[in-house]
Amino acid sequence: MTMTIDVAVVGQIARDLVLVVPTVPAAETAVAVRSRREMLGGKGANQAVGLAQLGVSVGLVGVVGDDAVGGWLLEQARRDGIDTTAVIQRPETSSGLIVDIVDETHQWRYLEDLPDPVKLTKADVQKAAGLLENVRCCVIQLQQPSEAVLSAAELTKAGGGRVILDGAPADDERRSTILAGADVLRADSHEAELLLGRPITSENDAVEAASKLLEHGPSIVALAAGSIGNVFADTTGHVVVPLSNTEVADTTGAGDALVAAFTASLLRGEPYQIAARHGAAAAQATVGHPGGRPALDPTQIFY
Ligand SMILES: Nc1ncnc2c1ncn2[C@@H]1O[C@H](COP(=O)(O)OP(=O)(O)O)[C@@H](O)[C@H]1O
Ligand SMILES: [Mg+2]
Repeated sequence: MTMTIDVAVVGQIARDLVLVVPTVPAAETAVAVRSRREMLGGKGANQAVGLAQLGVSVGLVGVVGDDAVGGWLLEQARRDGIDTTAVIQRPETSSGLIVDIVDETHQWRYLEDLPDPVKLTKADVQKAAGLLENVRCCVIQLQQPSEAVLSAAELTKAGGGRVILDGAPADDERRSTILAGADVLRADSHEAELLLGRPITSENDAVEAASKLLEHGPSIVALAAGSIGNVFADTTGHVVVPLSNTEVADTTGAGDALVAAFTASLLRGEPYQIAARHGAAAAQATVGHPGGRPALDPTQIFY
């Protein structure tokens, strides 16, 4: 008997090394690290962890290496309750690594070792067809190669599932095809700027930007708009959720937590305005600690 999996997450899996430092050292100087966390990370894994924490049955589609770290990442994901049947363990490949350096001003700097072999190919995604054609929702990270993104979206749609995109397609040529196939598009401030070709300057501007993106295909758009907060829109209206006054330790992973909680809410059949509250609250619950791993509590009433 196979367990039903409601959501597939297609994206990055990496070893995440979070280092909190008083200051980033200048060349030829050293600082002592204040605290260190090492964990399963990468946007795909973080979203899958968030979904699992919220009680959603989730399967991950991504790539790890055949090194010891790869085995450890798979083990961690399983421990988090994530189905890893569709994770590729690529021969002769080192697993991805993200070093997240957070300084005293709570700003992050990432050192990313995510070469092509740890990214999904179209063939990798096609191996996951059995999962993708049977899920209710597929969350796809646009940092993955466009052919892999398109293939995941097509397989999901073929099975009648909803496609949720996070990020901005890097590939200009395929951008319109990718957006046309989306049900939900979520972008952070920088990604929104890439999509629009200009920065978002005000709340009205963010709402306008969201309606513009709705014209490209998605039926719901969620945009992070800097200090304004998060804007969620469909063709009938919009909601703006202002930033919380939570003390920020590191915004890393807050967008991924937002996507996880937003998706979980839509799956429960809630309207996007409610999903928006859950998403923003999940971001709030993630900015208070260093590193991208969410710690979402399904019993918490979010709004
Ligand atoms: N103080 C805060 N309270 C709540 N949410 C916040 C706060 N500061 C930032 N955020 C949210 O965190 C999210 C960060 O998103 P993103 O840059 O995509 O993160 P990542 O890709 O690392 O998961 C945005 O949606 C932003 O609005
Ligand atoms: Mg993001």
